[in-house]
Amino acid sequence: MKPLNRILMGGLLALGATVAQAQVAQVKVWAAACANCHGTNGYAEPGNEPLAGKDKAELVQKMLDFKSGRKPATLMHQITKGYTDEQLTEIAAYFAAQPKKP
Ligand code: HEC
Repeated sequence: MKPLNRILMGGLLALGATVAQAQVAQVKVWAAACANCHGTNGYAEPGNEPLAGKDKAELVQKMLDFKSGRKPATLMHQITKGYTDEQLTEIAAYFAAQPKKP
Protein backbone atom coordinates (compact mmCIF):
# COMPACT_ATOMS: atom_id res chain seq x y z
CA MET A 1 0.00 0.00 0.00
CA LYS A 2 1.26 3.51 -0.78
CA PRO A 3 2.06 5.60 2.31
CA LEU A 4 -0.74 8.07 1.54
CA ASN A 5 -3.25 5.23 1.20
CA ARG A 6 -1.99 3.82 4.45
CA ILE A 7 -2.58 7.14 6.20
CA LEU A 8 -6.07 7.47 4.68
CA MET A 9 -6.87 3.88 5.67
CA GLY A 10 -5.75 4.50 9.26
CA GLY A 11 -7.87 7.64 9.37
CA LEU A 12 -10.91 5.75 8.11
CA LEU A 13 -10.42 2.98 10.68
CA ALA A 14 -10.12 5.53 13.48
CA LEU A 15 -13.24 7.30 12.22
CA GLY A 16 -15.11 4.00 12.16
CA ALA A 17 -14.16 3.32 15.77
CA THR A 18 -15.28 6.80 16.80
CA VAL A 19 -18.64 6.36 15.07
CA ALA A 20 -19.12 2.97 16.76
CA GLN A 21 -18.34 4.51 20.17
CA ALA A 22 -20.76 7.38 19.51
CA GLN A 23 -23.49 4.85 18.68
CA VAL A 24 -22.87 2.99 21.94
CA ALA A 25 -23.03 6.29 23.83
CA GLN A 26 -26.26 7.21 22.03
CA VAL A 27 -28.05 3.97 22.90
CA LYS A 28 -26.98 4.42 26.55
CA VAL A 29 -28.66 7.84 26.55
CA TRP A 30 -31.85 6.31 25.16
CA ALA A 31 -31.70 3.46 27.69
CA ALA A 32 -31.19 5.95 30.53
CA ALA A 33 -34.61 7.40 29.66
CA CYS A 34 -36.12 4.04 30.69
CA ALA A 35 -34.28 3.85 34.03
CA ASN A 36 -36.87 5.76 36.10
CA CYS A 37 -39.34 2.96 35.63
CA HIS A 38 -37.34 -0.05 34.46
CA GLY A 39 -34.21 0.52 36.58
CA THR A 40 -30.62 1.34 35.63
CA ASN A 41 -29.64 -0.93 32.72
CA GLY A 42 -33.04 -2.64 33.02
CA TYR A 43 -32.68 -3.93 36.60
CA ALA A 44 -36.10 -2.86 37.82
CA GLU A 45 -37.29 -2.61 41.40
CA PRO A 46 -39.98 -5.18 42.26
CA GLY A 47 -43.30 -4.13 40.75
CA ASN A 48 -41.77 -2.79 37.54
CA GLU A 49 -40.90 -4.77 34.42
CA PRO A 50 -37.19 -5.66 34.29
CA LEU A 51 -35.69 -5.42 30.79
CA ALA A 52 -32.16 -6.73 31.38
CA GLY A 53 -31.34 -10.00 29.70
CA LYS A 54 -34.73 -10.38 28.00
CA ASP A 55 -34.96 -11.80 24.49
CA LYS A 56 -34.21 -9.07 21.94
CA ALA A 57 -36.90 -10.12 19.45
CA GLU A 58 -39.49 -10.24 22.23
CA LEU A 59 -38.56 -6.73 23.44
CA VAL A 60 -38.69 -5.33 19.90
CA GLN A 61 -42.07 -6.95 19.23
CA LYS A 62 -43.58 -5.66 22.48
CA MET A 63 -42.38 -2.12 21.83
CA LEU A 64 -43.62 -2.12 18.23
CA ASP A 65 -46.98 -3.44 19.48
CA PHE A 66 -47.14 -0.64 22.08
CA LYS A 67 -46.28 1.89 19.38
CA SER A 68 -48.95 0.67 16.96
CA GLY A 69 -51.53 0.39 19.74
CA ARG A 70 -51.91 -3.39 19.22
CA LYS A 71 -50.74 -3.97 22.81
CA PRO A 72 -52.68 -1.97 25.43
CA ALA A 73 -50.57 0.17 27.75
CA THR A 74 -50.87 2.88 30.35
CA LEU A 75 -47.58 4.58 29.42
CA MET A 76 -45.55 2.66 26.89
CA HIS A 77 -47.74 3.55 23.89
CA GLN A 78 -46.66 7.19 24.45
CA ILE A 79 -43.02 6.49 25.18
CA THR A 80 -42.43 4.20 22.19
CA LYS A 81 -43.83 6.84 19.82
CA GLY A 82 -40.82 9.00 20.66
CA TYR A 83 -38.45 6.58 18.91
CA THR A 84 -38.07 5.23 15.37
CA ASP A 85 -38.39 1.46 14.88
CA GLU A 86 -34.60 1.34 14.32
CA GLN A 87 -33.98 3.15 17.62
CA LEU A 88 -36.32 0.74 19.44
CA THR A 89 -34.40 -2.18 17.91
CA GLU A 90 -31.09 -0.72 19.15
CA ILE A 91 -32.53 -0.11 22.63
CA ALA A 92 -33.86 -3.69 22.73
CA ALA A 93 -30.43 -5.01 21.73
CA TYR A 94 -28.84 -2.97 24.54
CA PHE A 95 -31.14 -4.36 27.24
CA ALA A 96 -30.99 -7.90 25.83
CA ALA A 97 -27.18 -7.73 26.06
CA GLN A 98 -27.23 -7.00 29.83
CA PRO A 99 -26.74 -10.03 32.11
CA LYS A 100 -30.03 -11.09 33.75
CA LYS A 101 -28.67 -10.14 37.19
CA PRO A 102 -26.51 -7.04 37.88
C1 HEC B 1 -42.75 6.43 33.20
C2 HEC B 1 -42.41 5.02 33.37
C3 HEC B 1 -41.82 4.26 32.19
C4 HEC B 1 -40.76 4.63 31.40
C5 HEC B 1 -39.93 5.92 31.44
C6 HEC B 1 -40.53 3.53 30.48
N1 HEC B 1 -41.42 2.52 30.72
FE1 HEC B 1 -41.55 0.72 29.74
N2 HEC B 1 -43.14 0.19 30.87
C7 HEC B 1 -43.75 1.00 31.81
C8 HEC B 1 -45.01 0.39 32.22
C9 HEC B 1 -45.99 0.96 33.23
C10 HEC B 1 -45.12 -0.81 31.50
C11 HEC B 1 -46.30 -1.79 31.48
C12 HEC B 1 -47.14 -1.46 30.23
C13 HEC B 1 -47.89 -0.13 30.36
O1 HEC B 1 -48.84 -0.07 31.13
O2 HEC B 1 -47.52 0.86 29.67
C14 HEC B 1 -43.92 -0.92 30.69
C15 HEC B 1 -43.63 -2.00 29.86
C16 HEC B 1 -42.51 -2.08 29.04
C17 HEC B 1 -42.16 -3.23 28.25
C18 HEC B 1 -42.88 -4.57 28.20
C19 HEC B 1 -42.27 -5.43 29.29
C20 HEC B 1 -42.84 -6.82 29.28
O3 HEC B 1 -42.04 -7.77 29.26
O4 HEC B 1 -44.08 -6.97 29.25
C21 HEC B 1 -41.03 -2.93 27.57
C22 HEC B 1 -40.27 -3.82 26.60
C23 HEC B 1 -40.67 -1.58 27.95
N3 HEC B 1 -41.59 -1.10 28.86
C24 HEC B 1 -39.58 -0.91 27.47
C25 HEC B 1 -39.24 0.41 27.80
C26 HEC B 1 -38.13 1.11 27.23
C27 HEC B 1 -37.16 0.54 26.24
C28 HEC B 1 -38.14 2.37 27.78
C29 HEC B 1 -37.21 3.53 27.48
C30 HEC B 1 -37.11 3.93 26.10
C31 HEC B 1 -39.24 2.42 28.71
N4 HEC B 1 -39.89 1.21 28.69
C32 HEC B 1 -39.55 3.51 29.51
C33 HEC B 1 -43.28 2.19 32.28
C34 HEC B 1 -42.24 2.93 31.75
